[in-house]
Amino acid sequence: MTAKIIDGKEISAKMRGEIAKDVAKIKAEKGIIVGLAVILVGNDPASEIYVKNKEKAAHAIGMNSYLFRLAADISQEDLIAKIHELNRNPNIHGLLVQLPLPKKIDTKKIIHAIDPRKDVDGFNIINVGKLSVGDIEGVDGALIPCTPLGCMHLLKEVIGKNLVGMKVLVIGTSNIVGRPLSRLLLLEKATVTIANSATKDLKAECLQADVIISAAGVAGLIRGDMVKKDAIVIDVGINRIATADGKGRLVGDVDFDSVRNIAKAITPVPGGVGPMTISYLLKNTLNCCLKIIK
Ligand code: GUN
Repeated sequence: MTAKIIDGKEISAKMRGEIAKDVAKIKAEKGIIVGLAVILVGNDPASEIYVKNKEKAAHAIGMNSYLFRLAADISQEDLIAKIHELNRNPNIHGLLVQLPLPKKIDTKKIIHAIDPRKDVDGFNIINVGKLSVGDIEGVDGALIPCTPLGCMHLLKEVIGKNLVGMKVLVIGTSNIVGRPLSRLLLLEKATVTIANSATKDLKAECLQADVIISAAGVAGLIRGDMVKKDAIVIDVGINRIATADGKGRLVGDVDFDSVRNIAKAITPVPGGVGPMTISYLLKNTLNCCLKIIK
């Protein structure tokens, strides 16, 4: 039997419908339009596309979206001053700085300048710390990074609420995906293994796993012979590969055609984790607004 395809687009559309209702309610009851600010430094082509998609999605559900395009040679001080200005702006409830930043800028300092209450990426050390100690509930709970939230949602679509005791392999240790995702999985009492580029026998690790979540950024890393029968495979990779027509094509970390014959369920690329990341960005922005205007 071939794997169930987990349709991130469809699940996202449902989520965005719900968020749009809440955005409209805030506008009707309080006269406030939920606002997301995105800072883009320079013109990295991939970042341009991501930022455009974020703006489009925010507008589509009735949010205001403010894009601030700053020159690649902006000084760190000027960038921090812009962040402080947006931290103070009452029309902005969520704020993110698209990564990566130019090399001469200290990314940590930039992220830490964002008001933790507006940190819709969940990258600020206050939110990272709260997630690390499991402080994720209530008004003071962590803002959690969007891609890990999207992965958890897709996973739960297949296995229901309960991840207790499941063997989950996370491939990748980034602050954007691997680390926060591992924290979320631990909070659900999954048995978590985190693989990195130095992992000696990735195939052996994969074959042990009930769930594989790959965020390595390596096209075709996970093949069918590496996956246990009926495992669940979540593909976070977005890799552009060359095609004969010169246009290129987006693929994940997972060799979809071979893995779909082994796995129980699999996310496609595109149309899997990607749309969920944006949906959770919108949800985090809505939640920031609700806390700020409370
Ligand atoms: N670059 C790649 N992914 C992300 C993300 O989730 N947030 C930001 N700010 N930059 C990114």
